Amino acid sequence: MNREILRDTVQQLFANNKGLLAMDESTGTCNRRFAAAGIPQTLLMRRDYRELIVTTPRLKEYIGGAILYDETIRQQTKAGVPMAEVLMNAGIIPGIKVDLGTKPLAGFPNEMITEGLDGLRERLAEYKIMGARFAKWRAVISIGDNVPTSMGIEANVHALARYAALCQEADIVPIVEPEILMSGNHSLRRCEEVTEMVLKRLFYQLYRSRIDLEGIILKPNMVMAGAESGEQNTSEEIAEATVRCLLNSVPAAVPAIAFLSGGQSPMDADAHLNAMHTQSKGHLPWVVTFSFGRALQQPALAAWKGNTVNIKKAQRLLYEQTKAAAAARLGDFHREVETERWK
Ligand code: 13P
Repeated sequence: MNREILRDTVQQLFANNKGLLAMDESTGTCNRRFAAAGIPQTLLMRRDYRELIVTTPRLKEYIGGAILYDETIRQQTKAGVPMAEVLMNAGIIPGIKVDLGTKPLAGFPNEMITEGLDGLRERLAEYKIMGARFAKWRAVISIGDNVPTSMGIEANVHALARYAALCQEADIVPIVEPEILMSGNHSLRRCEEVTEMVLKRLFYQLYRSRIDLEGIILKPNMVMAGAESGEQNTSEEIAEATVRCLLNSVPAAVPAIAFLSGGQSPMDADAHLNAMHTQSKGHLPWVVTFSFGRALQQPALAAWKGNTVNIKKAQRLLYEQTKAAAAARLGDFHREVETERWK
């Protein structure tokens, strides 16, 4: 492990107030989003869509790194340039999702475990040759009746720690993502409790696994009431609960926290991130930024519709979303102004 390389990568990813773009949807997830938008679910359409993203003009102004999926990192643009190379040429660091998705955790109904540790050392070596300098592994925790269990949490954070160790061994920065899902009817308070418990156990496992905390990125959920709870919270309440939870559980040695958007609208995700910054006035111990997937891509995907004539418009919308998220990262996002602009 070369600690300097890990630190340099983190520093470059988030320099100049940038964030990350998650474009690592698995084939199944990407196809589901295409189906919802009436786009044919083919290899070539997925290629065209990912090409649209990586060739977006000025993307690097607000994006320091983009997380790719295995299919994409092996793909080339129509002009025959590998997608990762397009990103590198544009000044954006390519990253790679290395988990292989979730399966039910045997013996524990309604809990999932993320797979992909077997052969990971070899896959990381291959991705590194393709240009990846950081990686992502997503663990999924649901809140519901009798879940999460202690075993469900332990199994997932243990896998995250083993993944992180393999990444650091290969000088690849691990994004450690323990996602507490938004679905459910739990309260904001319950989400805070569960998120805090998961993060505390995660950092204990990272410690036991001899992870260099200065060479990781944490990708957590924001603390929010369940989507079916009916509980309405303001951005200020969500930001306050999220920051309190993180301050209680994430060591200051961690250089950066980059949130997932988890199905929030772009406007909500940006407003919540913004509120964290306006409340804390620059006094947080970590870089606090975004690693959104849907909250950056949604408007672009809807505008593209799988049609070449819409590419420029879709790229403009993607760029605008990255700009709005970057403004939120500085506490300089104004919902009213944005709402007016997007009309
Ligand atoms: P969302 O922002 O759409 O949740 O995606 C981010 C991500 O990478 C989830 O693993």
